[in-house]
Amino acid sequence: MSESTYPSVKDLTLEEKASLTSGGDSWHLQGVESKGIPGYMITDGPHGLRKSLTSSTGETDLDNSVPATCFPPAAGLSSSWNPELIHKVGEAMAEECIQEKVAVILGPGVNIKRNPLGGRCFEYWSEDPYLAGHEAVGIVAGVQSKGVGTSLKHFAANNQETDRLRVDARISQRALREIYLPAFEHIVKTAQPWTIMCSYNRINGVHSAQNHWLLTDVLRDEWGFEGIVMSDWGADHDRVASLNAGLNLEMPPSYTDDQIVDAARDGRIAPAQLDRMAQGMIDLINKARAAMSIDGYRFDVDVHDEVAHQAAIESIVLLKNDDAILPLNADPAAARKIAVIGEFARTPRYQGGGSSHITPTKMTSFLDTLAERGIKADFAPGFTLDLEPADLALESEAVETAKNADVVLMFLGLPEAAESEGFDRDTLDMPAKQIALLEQVAATNQNVVVVLSNGSVVSVAPWAKNAKGILESWLLGQAGGLALADVIFGQVSPSGKLAQSIPLDINDDPSMLNWPGEEGHVDYGEGVFVGYRYYDTYGKVVDYPFGYGLSYATFEIADVAAAKTGANTATVTATVTNTSDVDAAETVQVYVAPGKADVARPKHELKGFTKVFLKAGESKSVTIDLDERAFAYWSEKYNDWHVESGEYAIEVGVSSRDIADTVVVTLEGDGKSQPLTEWSTYGEWETDPFGAKIVADVAAAGEAGELTKLPDNAMMRMFLNSMPINSLSTLLGEGGKKIAKFMVDEYAKLAK
Ligand code: BGC
Repeated sequence: MSESTYPSVKDLTLEEKASLTSGGDSWHLQGVESKGIPGYMITDGPHGLRKSLTSSTGETDLDNSVPATCFPPAAGLSSSWNPELIHKVGEAMAEECIQEKVAVILGPGVNIKRNPLGGRCFEYWSEDPYLAGHEAVGIVAGVQSKGVGTSLKHFAANNQETDRLRVDARISQRALREIYLPAFEHIVKTAQPWTIMCSYNRINGVHSAQNHWLLTDVLRDEWGFEGIVMSDWGADHDRVASLNAGLNLEMPPSYTDDQIVDAARDGRIAPAQLDRMAQGMIDLINKARAAMSIDGYRFDVDVHDEVAHQAAIESIVLLKNDDAILPLNADPAAARKIAVIGEFARTPRYQGGGSSHITPTKMTSFLDTLAERGIKADFAPGFTLDLEPADLALESEAVETAKNADVVLMFLGLPEAAESEGFDRDTLDMPAKQIALLEQVAATNQNVVVVLSNGSVVSVAPWAKNAKGILESWLLGQAGGLALADVIFGQVSPSGKLAQSIPLDINDDPSMLNWPGEEGHVDYGEGVFVGYRYYDTYGKVVDYPFGYGLSYATFEIADVAAAKTGANTATVTATVTNTSDVDAAETVQVYVAPGKADVARPKHELKGFTKVFLKAGESKSVTIDLDERAFAYWSEKYNDWHVESGEYAIEVGVSSRDIADTVVVTLEGDGKSQPLTEWSTYGEWETDPFGAKIVADVAAAGEAGELTKLPDNAMMRMFLNSMPINSLSTLLGEGGKKIAKFMVDEYAKLAK
């Protein structure tokens, strides 16, 4: 069918328009057959396709879906810091959608990991909005480059699973703008996702589905979003209010389209609003038309498995490597005797639980890989992957196996039941039986390398002394076993960097005072001080900082320089050199540290990064542009972004706590100012360009005896500076009133 045969909303009856604003069933849009509008399929996401093999009627069947490549979930992929690689993952996912005739894949999810206990941390990218946005945009752009849509989710502030369907997230405007919205904003502005899925929760009292501020004022009017917004599954509790707020599509359908028809008839929905929402649905269908018309397409399972393999390699973070215990030598002649302990080596935990759970096309465990590559090792499972107590027979078998080896690879982690969509964890601790086994193994063998599998941060500090090497492998998707063998045996150097801090103790986390909330609400009391923004500003010790990750190579960053490219923009350059004899990649990270500011700002914030692949001994120069936003904060005073004039340090490094060099730029600022009034403090008058002149006049008049002389002792000046000038009489009696009047009158003259 050609595009021209798809009608405009003007060709539809009221009932037909209403019908477009809810699904046909759980996984399909509602078509209008007589008008040639098809009801395409839309389904999960986000790290591969979950197309249910069973019903479309609404029951959840997570275990029965068509085989699809299981790429590393965001928990892993976010550590790659490699948007190009992520783009390739997106392209591959789109090809699988084309084969399965899926018009929109439901992902990626870019909510901030406010607290590592959050149940969906495995599906989300980072504690940092810049990183989350600049990585996940690769999925959106990659999928959509093939003519398939994405659904950026969950808009917004789904940062916990506790009470997720109702909880009221009370968040300041500043924290929303600086922390919880920018990943969405960046992706909307640069890649225009075809759809956005709203979250279940409320934000400042209003459910996201009914939130006009969120779905219309910010998303469409400010950011220029051109796609449609759908509800999360069951998040639309009031069809009329939601449609008026800017929600195009209720999913799954509640079969209440008559409510929309009635409201359009009695004026509760304006005709133009219904037309806008319904036209959005027609536009979406038109965008998907070309790809959905391709018949008989088959994606290449092996090629996609290889994409998943590469993605898994770059997701692995080397946390510790004492005595250069890694890499191991795979050459049978030189190899040391290896013991592999832990059920995860045989039964990998490679994805998270819940709606994203997919059926992989292949599955290669670490043990499979060793067998395929002819690498000999003794294996003992050591423990079961459940929450049951330790099995003593398995334990002693594992300790025996470890005793006879030169080196022990211990595969530890969180079993599936320990973390999932739908609930938050209540501890960062690893299962006790695994830690007890590690202790026993370490007592018999000094050369232990722990390989972790977990969707969100686990505590490392309590047991790290028992391991010379630690690889944080997150959840690696279906090719994780291959990737781990590549890294462990040194075919490739690890290059992952932490997308979230690993604290020493969960009680160090800034959100813990308000986690997970109470009586139906949660206060985001830490404001913008999330993750490293808190730890670094307040000098808290962490176990591993944001951006951290070791390599088998060594690097040097030199020639750091910054040049202004405008009043409030700059470009940063540096040279990065691989100073080792191992080919490897390093990620250069740029943090902006504001100088003196009118509001409490984090010590520094990530504002740019680039991953550089370098052969042994090779050097490359890197350039990172910083736009005005890189220096701005959200001012509640101006209800807008604000760049203050002054000095900003630009730090170039390899983690938030490993800065190679710092340079300073001086910005002009955006010139925003607010008129002074009698309610402005004396200090505010002093720092305002017009006010400063008047303050000087007050001092001169004081010297001349025309006005009361201002106190000159430091203590009194402090009082004075923080006083609105209409209170000067408290310090200066009648004379204070005269000074205030003089100032306000002079200001009025200057303003003319
Ligand atoms: C999840 C979404 C998912 C949807 C459809 C919801 O419960 O929050 O992420 O896309 O179900 O499975």
